[in-house]
Amino acid sequence: MLSQKFKEMCNAPSVIRELSVYATERGKEIGYENVFDYSLGNPSVPVPEDFNKAIRELTEELASSALHGYSPNPGNPEVRTVIATSLKERFGIPYEQKHIFMTSAAASAIAHAVRCVTSPGDEVVTFAPFFPEYRPYIEQTGAVLKVVPADTSSFQINFEEFERFLNPNVQAVLINSPNNPSGIVYSAETLERLAQILNDKQNEYGHEIFIISDEPYREIVFDGVKAPYVSNFYDNTLSCYSYSKSLSIPGERIGYVAVNPKAKDADMIVPMCVQISRGIGHNCPSSIIQMAAARCVSMTSDLSVYEKNMNLIYNKLKELGFEVVRPGGTFYIFPKAMEEDAKVFCEKAKKYDLILVPGDTFGAPGYFRMAYCIDTEKVERSLPALEKFVKTEYGVN
Ligand SMILES: Cc1ncc(COP(=O)(O)O)c(C=O)c1O
Repeated sequence: MLSQKFKEMCNAPSVIRELSVYATERGKEIGYENVFDYSLGNPSVPVPEDFNKAIRELTEELASSALHGYSPNPGNPEVRTVIATSLKERFGIPYEQKHIFMTSAAASAIAHAVRCVTSPGDEVVTFAPFFPEYRPYIEQTGAVLKVVPADTSSFQINFEEFERFLNPNVQAVLINSPNNPSGIVYSAETLERLAQILNDKQNEYGHEIFIISDEPYREIVFDGVKAPYVSNFYDNTLSCYSYSKSLSIPGERIGYVAVNPKAKDADMIVPMCVQISRGIGHNCPSSIIQMAAARCVSMTSDLSVYEKNMNLIYNKLKELGFEVVRPGGTFYIFPKAMEEDAKVFCEKAKKYDLILVPGDTFGAPGYFRMAYCIDTEKVERSLPALEKFVKTEYGVN
């Protein structure tokens, strides 16, 4: 018999993916260059040439079995050492090879991390607005996702509400900074306060509460500001990283879990991930891609385009009277819609071939997301459409 649970999930497909399909279909009618598709977070800037070079060199240097064979379960040992060393240099945390578990990007890193620190029925708390895939990531482990309402004034953490969500069933807090969809970077002050609260609660409840820190946008930051590294604030942190956005290789599916060496039972977590991977089938990410990523460990694509796009869009939104918090990173912005129901707002935007994603899907109704990982030239052409949309539909002068 087919699984009822997954059958039911088919009735609620991803809103973002649906909009992306709509944009592609519309593109067939009017030319995709005329569709201002702000739906999907698919990086537009090319991979660094060094990544392609690394692939070419690897294919010349190594035997077929090394290139295309299974890697050991926790990942290629040399690759894990390169990553540990790089993280240690960048963030001053004494990671070693044994703290790094290679995964099929952030999705898989989170799938492992959640299973490591929860049992079915436990609660995982996250903060709105949040990446909608967190729901299947968490719920398919049997854990329960709890969402703290947004602090819409800054999109930092709404601490008053957060404290109301804490109880002995909470085993993990899932955070994402720089954040999809708000673009906000959690300040050191926010992370200090979060750590303080969780340390107090760990003592009160007599068990650990892990932070699962989802960091695929760690390098996409603006104004020369660095994103504070969560593990430096809280020992029981599992950092979930992905090269999808920093190297523009989401299709290659590569990332890792980095276990803070000071975390409770830190040396057990990677071996536990190995066991988890046996069950969920996310085991042994591509050997060649692991090695190519390691050769580019301190590199990124040219991410400056995203800051340029952000400034163009942010300035236009402000000029048109939108309420919007300026992003500190990522390639997303999350303004308030010009009417209460953001779904209606985004539907009306389609008339102007603007593809915007309603905030409801991120747990923040009344807002909408624009993923501006598109060519700057297209961003520039979209601004008159945005102006026409709000002038016509909302009488903005
Ligand atoms: C916040 C966040 N987490 C996780 C992911 C999953 O990315 P990947 O599995 O490609 O690393 C995404 C993808 O867009 C994301 O935005």
